[in-house]
Order: sequence, then C-alpha cells, then structure tokens
Amino acid sequence: MVGSKGRGSNMRRLIEAGRAEEFPGRVECVLAPTPDSPAVQSAREMGIPTTILSPKSADYPSELARVLDGVDLVCLAGFMSLFPAEVLDQHPGRVLNIHPALLPKFGGKGMYGMHVHQAVLAAGERESGCTVHLVTPIYDEGRILVQLSCPIEPEDSPEALAARVLRLEHQAYPLAIRLRLDELAHEQPSSDEA
Ligand code: GAR
Repeated sequence: MVGSKGRGSNMRRLIEAGRAEEFPGRVECVLAPTPDSPAVQSAREMGIPTTILSPKSADYPSELARVLDGVDLVCLAGFMSLFPAEVLDQHPGRVLNIHPALLPKFGGKGMYGMHVHQAVLAAGERESGCTVHLVTPIYDEGRILVQLSCPIEPEDSPEALAARVLRLEHQAYPLAIRLRLDELAHEQPSSDEA
C-alpha cells in the first residue's frame, strides 16, 4: 500500500477490510511521502508499519523497490504522481490505483482530487463514480478492474459530488483487490500484465 499526504480514508478502509477473516489480503505496510499526514497518523494508530519515502529524494525508485520487494499487491490511494516505471516492472499487473471518476473520462495528468469533480460538473455529466484500475506508465490508463457509478444531482457542488464518490470508492477498492487476487491465483506465472 502506498498512501499519500492525503487524508487516508481509502487506506483506512483497506486496513479494515483486511482484518475481516474472509478477506483474501491484508495491509502489510503504508508508504507515504511525509511523516505528518493524517494517513500516516491513522496507519500508526491502526498498528500498521509506516515507511516515509520522499519522491523528491534521488534514490526514490530504488528505495521504493526495496521496500515493496515481496508484496503481492501495491494499492495506490491518493497517489498524485506517476508511479516509477522501474518499480512497476518489478510488480507486473500488481499495482492498483483508485481514481474518483469513470475512466477513461476525466483522467490524465492534472486530474486528481477536487479538480476531477470540478471538471465532471463543468462538463454537465449526468453521472460520475470511481474506477479501480491496473497502473501502467501512463496516467490513469491500464485495465479497469471495478467501476461504480452514482447520479449527479442538479445542485451538486464539487464537494457534495466528491463525498458521494468517496463512499463508492470505499466499496470499490476492496472489491477490486478481491478480483485481482483471484485473477492472479488463476494466472500462469508468465501471463502477468501491466
Ligand atoms: C480519492 O478520492 C482518490 O480517488 C483520489 O484521491 C483521493 C484520496 O482520498 N485520487 C486521485 O485523484 C488520483 N488521481 P483518501 O486519501 O481519503 O483515500
């Protein structure tokens, strides 16, 4: 799990999901770029080891690769930059991201957080939602694993829409992890994908 400097609500949801007996995975560690985020504080309170790695440090890709060595899945939640390609190569088909819109619409560089909801409303969309997808070297591309949608109400503000979509995100991410772990269990070792 690679968290962010954000509030960490998806991270908390995944930690909780992993504590249910029938769930096929559990959060082993949380990575974040700064030590003082709500996400890091929550992870510590929930007893999950945290690692702080700044994307600005020269050895970021190699340190990230070292810390993630041996994990089955890497789940990005509020990760706003490009995931290093060399670390992707180390985990083919095993890096997931959650995005607060119905990709392929409203994705790409600069489309994150509230910018996404503002763009969705400005485009006059009738529905929005969230997407969990496999990560590739291109922003918000990669095979879609789970999408959940919700209506947009005429009076919606970006904040109201963000709150509705976030509730969907908390359902979608555990579903996508179940799905991907199940797929991986049935794949031949050579058929890993990005
Ligand atoms: C979530 O809404 C997630 O979809 C979004 O950041 C938020 C993180 O919230 N990610 C992106 O916009 C990535 N392009 P959280 O810290 O409460 O999980």
